[in-house]
Amino acid sequence: MTNKSDIFEIIYSLRSMRRLKRDPVPIEMIEKILDAGIQAPSGINSQPWAFVVITDPEKKKFFGERYDFWLKNRFGDGLLEPDTSTKYGRTIRSALYLSEHMHEAPVILMVLGKRDWPFNVKEQDRVGKAPPSYGSIYPCVQNILLAARALGLGASLTTMHQMFEDEIHEYYKIPTDHGLVATIPIGFPSGKFGPVSREPLETKIHFEEWSN
Ligand SMILES: Cc1cc2nc3c(=O)[nH]c(=O)nc-3n(C[C@H](O)[C@H](O)[C@H](O)COP(=O)(O)O)c2cc1C
Repeated sequence: MTNKSDIFEIIYSLRSMRRLKRDPVPIEMIEKILDAGIQAPSGINSQPWAFVVITDPEKKKFFGERYDFWLKNRFGDGLLEPDTSTKYGRTIRSALYLSEHMHEAPVILMVLGKRDWPFNVKEQDRVGKAPPSYGSIYPCVQNILLAARALGLGASLTTMHQMFEDEIHEYYKIPTDHGLVATIPIGFPSGKFGPVSREPLETKIHFEEWSN
């Protein structure tokens, strides 16, 4: 069991770790992370999550190639030479590195959510496929990131799969009643953890009503 200060240390140093070593990650570590994931809350305890753990080189290559193609296709040439004197530019450089090395991540974890209409969408408006229940999956995703960090593993949350989700469904045989919420490459870190860079709380907090 971690104590209170450990959890805060983990939260404050939980950076996206996009540079990963190629060393394999024991499956027991992945299971421990996923078991932490499924302790998360979900709407009426529906537990709508499911996971596809990818370690096979061919199966990682399929994902990595498409991820890299779509990242560059979606965000264009501006991405290729980021201004690394800015924080934004450094994030782009890091995202680009991950994109080009995605297939080398020891594990690519897909976090799926069962499709379900949000309760505020009326019956007559329920056209096409329902989205996965994002709100019930993201606490699980965050638990996964925290647990990975606690075990000294690097991970980063990605969503570029949205650009080629149909292909993913077909290739990895994912049933249509589930949607892909997050794809998380995991491995032992090459870079360093934390501290994270965030705008200060006082720029976000309001008391009693929204005020300047
Ligand atoms: C919903 C969501 C989607 C994200 N998608 C991507 C992504 O597709 N590729 C990527 O490299 N990072 C992605 N990120 C990571 C963010 O870029 C990162 O969390 C943010 O820049 C803050 O950096 P830090 O996590 O290192 O503190 C995503 C994060 C969230 C919460």
